[in-house]
Amino acid sequence: MTRYDEIRRHLGSHSYTWLVTGVAGFIGSNLLEALLRMKQKVVGLDNFATGYRHNLEQALRDAGCLPGDADFRFIEGDICDPDICRTACAGVDFVLHQAALGSVPRSIEDPLRTNRANIDGFLNMLVAARDAGVRRFVYAASSSTYGDHPALPKVEEKIGTPLSPYAVTKVVNELYAGVFARSYGFKSVGLRYFNIFGKRQDPNGAYAAVIPKWVASLIAGEQVFINGDGETSRDFCYIENTVQINLLAALTESEEALDQVYNVALNDRTSLNRLFEMIQTRLIERMPTLRPVRPQHRDFRPGDVRHSQADISKAERLLGYHPSHSIDQGLDEAMDWYVGALSQVV
Ligand SMILES: NC(=O)c1ccc[n+]([C@@H]2O[C@H](COP(=O)([O-])OP(=O)(O)OC[C@H]3O[C@@H](n4cnc5c(N)ncnc54)[C@H](O)[C@@H]3O)[C@@H](O)[C@H]2O)c1
Repeated sequence: MTRYDEIRRHLGSHSYTWLVTGVAGFIGSNLLEALLRMKQKVVGLDNFATGYRHNLEQALRDAGCLPGDADFRFIEGDICDPDICRTACAGVDFVLHQAALGSVPRSIEDPLRTNRANIDGFLNMLVAARDAGVRRFVYAASSSTYGDHPALPKVEEKIGTPLSPYAVTKVVNELYAGVFARSYGFKSVGLRYFNIFGKRQDPNGAYAAVIPKWVASLIAGEQVFINGDGETSRDFCYIENTVQINLLAALTESEEALDQVYNVALNDRTSLNRLFEMIQTRLIERMPTLRPVRPQHRDFRPGDVRHSQADISKAERLLGYHPSHSIDQGLDEAMDWYVGALSQVV
């Protein structure tokens, strides 16, 4: 039995209260769905900056809950407001802090707004969680923290210089988390997500992530662009693996596992050119009327790192993390979902 099996079994007979911030977003709504499936109580906090009410409705539906009967309380509010954070943390056992403004280009265009949500908001949440005496604070960190460090695969201890305002905010989150452990004995766990993908990841807007953006363009018959020569590579990680490590981090009983950051990925690397082929093949299998197209290459994006691949041995060793889905398995599931969701709207 894996550690994740043990945790799921434990949650089957113990009901805790979880706060998921950023609950109306991609990762937050998947955490909500997983926790409701396990009959946990969830408080959700979001200001709909980039999240959607329909993500909440869908997460509840997919978890088999009706809006009224789920053990879910939603607070519409901003983590930049300390009072909202305090209210949200009251009576909570575990915090899974996902709320932030993602996207490197967004942060380059508007560093102040990214700073407010990702640093002021993060600090508000840390203070509120500490004061409420929650059992564990788990937060979304980022692979962007590796910045310009050339080593591959990335190991947690070796980081370089940040390449964007977004990356700075995620580095600062880790610094604050460490200082809260040393100053107040409040030990948290940071999860350095690499490129996470899966259902409910937003395909719309200027800052959409590559997988949903390409899927939406292909289904709509629009031109697909690849930034650079397409040999840029990433360690794409399916959402189920991300849910797994959040629960492992929250419920770890190992003192050594606390006050740490962990890579969340597969220790795999896929180029954008290869990713495009993997997505297009799957879409044509599911929608035979789609015609194969060629992507158009354009300039590299400022602030992007060339290659990214994670060493995940620390998470395996200290948390018992074992990714359940390869990129192929994840793409199979994600494409089933996108074809169902997006083909209805085009
Ligand atoms: N998706 C990835 O590949 C990835 C990679 C690295 C790190 N992350 C981090 O994971 C977390 C979740 O990302 P996601 O992909 O689900 O993004 P998302 O944009 O779908 O979700 C973020 C959610 O946070 C909410 N939010 C933003 N600012 C807020 C504020 N001030 N107050 C309250 N709510 C606020 C948004 O409305 C949204 O619902 C973020 O912290 C992000 O930086 C994601």
